[in-house]
Order: sequence, then C-alpha cells, then structure tokens
Amino acid sequence: MATAPDPSAMHVQRFSVPFEYPVVFTDGVLDPSNGTLAWALDQSGAGRAPRALFVADDGLAACWPTLADDVAAYAAAHDIEVDAPLRLVPGGEAAKRDTSTVDAVLEWIAQARLDRHAYVVALGGGAMLDAVGYAAALAHRGVRLIRIPTTVLAQNDAGVGVKNGINAFGSKNFLGTFVPPHAVLNDIRWIGTLPDRDRVAGVAEAIKVGLIRDRSFFEWLESSASALGSGEPGATATMIRRCAELHLQHIASSGDPFERGSARPLDYGHWSAHKLELLSGHTLRHGEAVSIGMLLDAQYAVLEGFLSSAAFDRVRSLLVGVGLPIWHDALDRPEQVLCGLEEFREHLGGELTITLLRDLGRGVEVHAIDTDRMRESIGRLRALRIAS
Ligand SMILES: NC(=O)c1ccc[n+]([C@@H]2O[C@H](COP(=O)([O-])OP(=O)(O)OC[C@H]3O[C@@H](n4cnc5c(N)ncnc54)[C@H](O)[C@@H]3O)[C@@H](O)[C@H]2O)c1
Ligand SMILES: [Zn+2]
Repeated sequence: MATAPDPSAMHVQRFSVPFEYPVVFTDGVLDPSNGTLAWALDQSGAGRAPRALFVADDGLAACWPTLADDVAAYAAAHDIEVDAPLRLVPGGEAAKRDTSTVDAVLEWIAQARLDRHAYVVALGGGAMLDAVGYAAALAHRGVRLIRIPTTVLAQNDAGVGVKNGINAFGSKNFLGTFVPPHAVLNDIRWIGTLPDRDRVAGVAEAIKVGLIRDRSFFEWLESSASALGSGEPGATATMIRRCAELHLQHIASSGDPFERGSARPLDYGHWSAHKLELLSGHTLRHGEAVSIGMLLDAQYAVLEGFLSSAAFDRVRSLLVGVGLPIWHDALDRPEQVLCGLEEFREHLGGELTITLLRDLGRGVEVHAIDTDRMRESIGRLRALRIAS
C-alpha cells in the first residue's frame, strides 16, 4: 500500500511562474520602418544591443530571394547584433524527421556564442518552427525564441502556442518540450507566396477550432468558404486572426497550458491525423490529415448518436468547399490507422481522451472508442468518396 511520508520528513517545494508573451499581427515585419521586431528584441535586459541568430525555412527563402539582405538591412537599421548570415534549414516535415536540423541550430548557437538573453529568430512554417524551437529550448537550457510564422497553419495554430518538437522512433513529436516563446510576430505578407495546397491545409485548423469551440466562427467559415478556398487576402487574414485567438484563449484559460492532464480538446481529429501523416510517408500535409481525421470522427459521432447527419453534411461541405481532402488511401489500412488511438493516448499519458462533436461548435470528451464502429466509419467515408 502507498503511504504518504511523515510531513516532518518532507519539504513540499512549491512555486509558480507567470508566463506572458505578445502575439502581434503586423504587415511587413522586415521592413526597416516596421519597429515590431526591434521592439520584441529590445528586451534583452543585458544593457547592450540585442544579439540574435536568424534561421529561416529554405522553402520560404526560395520564394523571397532578398530574405538574407532584408534581415541584414533590418538588423543594421535597428542596431541588432547578428554574428552570422541568415541560416537556412529545410522547410516542411524534413526539418523534424530526424535530429539534423536541431543539431545544426545548436551548433550555430554555440558558434555565435549566444547566451540566455540572446535570441533565436525563426522564420518559417510550423515544422521548422517546431524543430528550431526545440533547439532553442535545449541550448543553455533555453535561449529566447522569437517566432515569425510564414504559413497559414503556423500563424493560426502551430506558431502561437507553447510546444515544440521533432519526430522520433516512428512517432510524431516524440521529442519536445513545452516552452513559451518570447514573442510571435504574424505577418500576413508571407502568405502571398505560400503554395495553394499549404494555404488551404491551414484552413483545417480554423475549421477544427470552430467546430469544437465557436459555432459562429464555424458559420462565418461556411459563408467565407469560397473566399478562403481562393485565398482572398481579407478573409484569410480574418480567419488566421480569429483562429489564433481561439487557440491562445484555450492555452490561457484551460487550466492546463502544459497538457499535464489526459485531455487535449484542441486536437479534435488529430488521433488519426497523426497516424495518417506517418502512413502516407508525409505526403499528406498536417492540415490535410486533420481534415480527414475530423470528418472520420464526425462520422463516428453520427454513428454513436452524438451528432446529426445534417451537421455532418455541413462539416463535409465546408471541408470540400475550401478544397480540403476527405479521404486518403492510407484509410484502406484500418488496423494500422486504429493503432493511432493507443499512440495518441501514450503521447498524452493517462486515460484515453478523444474529443468528439456533440454539435457544430460543441465538443465532448469520450474515454473509449468502439473500434468496430470506427471501422464502419472508415467504410462510410470510403463510400462517400466513391459516391462523390
Ligand atoms: N507546435 C505546435 O503546437 C503545432 C501545432 C500544429 C501543427 N504543428 C506542426 O506544424 C507542422 C506543419 O506546419 P505547416 O502547415 O506550417 O507546414 P510546413 O512547416 O510543413 O511547411 C509547408 C511548406 O511551406 C513552405 N513555406 C513556408 N512558408 C512559406 C512561404 N511563406 N512561402 C512559400 N513557401 C513557404 C515550407 O518550406 C514547406 O515546404 C507539422 O509538423 C505539425 O506537426 C505544430
Ligand atoms: Zn494540428
């Protein structure tokens, strides 16, 4: 039997640390006349010019040929000490497939002799932000990280939160830490060069958060589906901002910012999405896998009697309406997909907790999934795909 130690033999160590970081929405973050980045860097507390290492996504750099010059000109204009030229890391899942990106960033931090009051400024998509953020968290037990997310998904979800990580041992985000960034600077201008496929993939996270948290946002997404599908800038900016705010609200008010419990309500549709990403050999984008995972769980919720067929049809129409996929052939391996349930539980720890839909804008947590019914749900998605 477990027995609590005698209080006289124990000291309970207790302290709390408040966290605060700005998430700024701006336009032209590297324009020397835009003071936002300089402001974010001007908090080193070291009594001297801020020191920074700039690391960018190579996919971003390919679309912005003047990026290295823009960073150098910005640093010169604002008296920011930069020891090295702009460093590039692979964009996309390649950044977090193994430890090579993390190793490279750690080496650059060591070479630049960055201390804990110095900054790593990371510009890129969610995958490289995860890997670079992990390296920044490890060096000296944490140098400051400023994220400049450059994809829709990174601006509305991945880049604004407190997590980083890389894939290992066949699992998504097996290695990683919870470390809040020093600042996040969301610049809508980057989205202009994002390929349509990646831009649309990011809309999936907005649909997700609308579905589980905010019906009126879901309905706004429905009415804006064609504008979002075609990348209309005003609708895209509104969608990014509202989605980021809902994610931030959740982190601040859930009472569990570092996910110590077993629930992860914002990961609606993600248990299968993470598995589908891996099974597809990462040919599926994260947002695309989330789209399929959300529809699968919506179908399951219909079979469970939680969700009406009419609501399911609206979810499907919105996903299809913005141009998201609702099927991938990896679903033809249902036994492997279903392994994602236990992997999801393991990643969070404790009891299996899956968020399902009760209604549009309303999630519900369940602790068991009927695997036969989930197989049937996969079958129904297959039938839908054949019918459409
Ligand atoms: N840390 C978190 O809380 C969190 C949350 C959600 C998702 N994620 C992770 O985010 C990753 C997905 O991120 P993503 O959707 O941003 O995609 P991504 O990082 O995989 O990038 C997609 C592609 O866009 C390119 N790119 C980036 N910015 C560009 C630009 N402005 N113009 C042209 N090309 C550009 C990249 O080089 C890459 O080829 C996944 O690994 C996922 O696990 C993390
Ligand atoms: Zn996600």
